[in-house]
Amino acid sequence: MLALGCDHGGYALMQEVIAYLDKHNIPYHNYGTFSEESVDYPEYGKLVAHAVASGECEKGILICGTGIGISITANKVKGIRAALCHDVFSAKATRQHNDANILAMGGRVVGPGLALEILDAFLNTPFSNEERHIRRIAQIES
Ligand code: RB5
Repeated sequence: MLALGCDHGGYALMQEVIAYLDKHNIPYHNYGTFSEESVDYPEYGKLVAHAVASGECEKGILICGTGIGISITANKVKGIRAALCHDVFSAKATRQHNDANILAMGGRVVGPGLALEILDAFLNTPFSNEERHIRRIAQIES
């Protein structure tokens, strides 16, 4: 189960993400926002971060205008490794090396074509499980 969250700046791109998930029968819980009316991104960043940190959802997708505010918010929650990615290489690498559990993107930064390739890479790249990466991830929380 994926947890989805966005603010008004990410709303349009989130509709593209939802269409992709529906097309691929990938289950999700949408924590909002549900329109382009102005809202505060920390509310949605926290909802998704807590859903992932609690284990209720396996991974999360967060989108605001830049992806910055919402990823900063999510990374304040213990156990969250939110990666702001605007290229496919980073999306793959952050799964392999950081076992990132939230993908953040900026709806005003990337177009839907690239965003969906980034999403695809994030969802389909497993963690490497290599000892050095396990060790470094453990050091993040210590
Ligand atoms: C909203 O205008 C904008 O500040 C927000 O979407 C995000 O970019 C913050 O980091």
